[in-house]
Amino acid sequence: MRILVIGSGGREHALAWKLASSPHTTELFCAPGNARIGEFATRLPANVNDPIVLASLAESIGAHLTVIGPEAPLVAGVAEAFRARGLRLVGPSSAAARLEGSKIFAKEFTTRHSMPTARFVACDSPENAREALRKEFQFPVVVKADGLAAGKGVRIANDQAEFDAAINEMLVERVFGEAGSRLLLEECLVGREASVMIFTDGRDYKTIVPAQDYKRVYDDDQGPNTGGMGSFSTPGLIDDATLARIKREMIEPTLEGMDSEGNPFAGVLYFGLMLTSEGPKLIEYNARLGDPETQAVLVRLDDDLVEIFDAVIDGHIASTTIDWSNDSSVCLVAASGGYPGEFEKGKLITGLEAASSVEGVVVFHAGTQRDEQGNYLTAGGRVLGVTARANTLGNARARAYEAMSKISFDGMHYRSDIAV
Ligand code: AMP
Ligand code: GLY
Repeated sequence: MRILVIGSGGREHALAWKLASSPHTTELFCAPGNARIGEFATRLPANVNDPIVLASLAESIGAHLTVIGPEAPLVAGVAEAFRARGLRLVGPSSAAARLEGSKIFAKEFTTRHSMPTARFVACDSPENAREALRKEFQFPVVVKADGLAAGKGVRIANDQAEFDAAINEMLVERVFGEAGSRLLLEECLVGREASVMIFTDGRDYKTIVPAQDYKRVYDDDQGPNTGGMGSFSTPGLIDDATLARIKREMIEPTLEGMDSEGNPFAGVLYFGLMLTSEGPKLIEYNARLGDPETQAVLVRLDDDLVEIFDAVIDGHIASTTIDWSNDSSVCLVAASGGYPGEFEKGKLITGLEAASSVEGVVVFHAGTQRDEQGNYLTAGGRVLGVTARANTLGNARARAYEAMSKISFDGMHYRSDIAV
């Protein structure tokens, strides 16, 4: 079977790596992919935000299956474009992808279906944001852009000055463009965060082993939010009773609610959770696999990902068994100097082979390119996802940090407290 992966980051490298190991995969394509993916898959240039371009591409290569990594093509309607041509795609319709594409839609949906989540108010002007703050919230309060903002559209305001700055940035300066034309104010939840993703055919689902990601750039959760600086996955990360609650109070009401509203969600659905003292609460949905959670969970998948995705598309996920390893995994992100702000590209990366030779380690590439001599150079903010699997979380962490210590490039930084 010919398989096509859309996207270019560490998540897509992990997807391509796993799909390449399936005996069903005869040829693997990735659009646009990255330098490392290009060594075992055929890279195809494409504007990944254009659903028609992607459908034409899948058709032209005779793809049996297309897997969408990032959210933008889903929100833009890539599933509809594929369906119109009878092409097989893993990912929700644009109407279902609104769970990620509009945070206000998602919050109103969770209210309609009585799910545990942070109290919220939607606002579209600085005046009504200030009034809502005065009447309904205390500091700290969470301020979120409604639309897609690459994981960066959230501010936690600890006082009036921070609140005014966030409102001004989003509603007046429009730093997130149209995505920030409406806002959410939310009660600030306290607890440990966790990510639970599911494979679903719209009716039934199978959970993926839970993971935790680290959004802040520096150790001890200091500094601004990033796309994710690391992740881990280990048995027992969420206890059975809590997982049962998450299924009963969030996963099942979401699938039933989307179906009953006429927008069944098929694909991978991500529940970003806060495990509070009152129980698990939903922070956000993503309409796709998380990055860098994917890197951590796929190294624990002891099963065939092509067969799982076929079950998602063909509606038989209920009868599909999925084998996850009892091993643990840790993914460490190596980022460019300055990230998540301005950063330089084109820095020589050394030590990749030595890192990959550490037992249990796979180095997933996110932002890399190759020069004429075949050297790897940095080409993005998040450059690598050094990922290790081992029999305990401590051993996985030790292997990941040992591998990371062999890699270097000018300005490289990474967190030293992942999975500690
Ligand atoms: P989101 O893009 O909605 O996932 O938000 C990004 C990050 O902001 C989350 O992973 C949390 O760390 C934080 N966050 C978002 N909403 C809340 C909330 N209501 N309470 C506390 N932290 C939040
Ligand atoms: N790691 C969070 C996300 O993919 O949005």
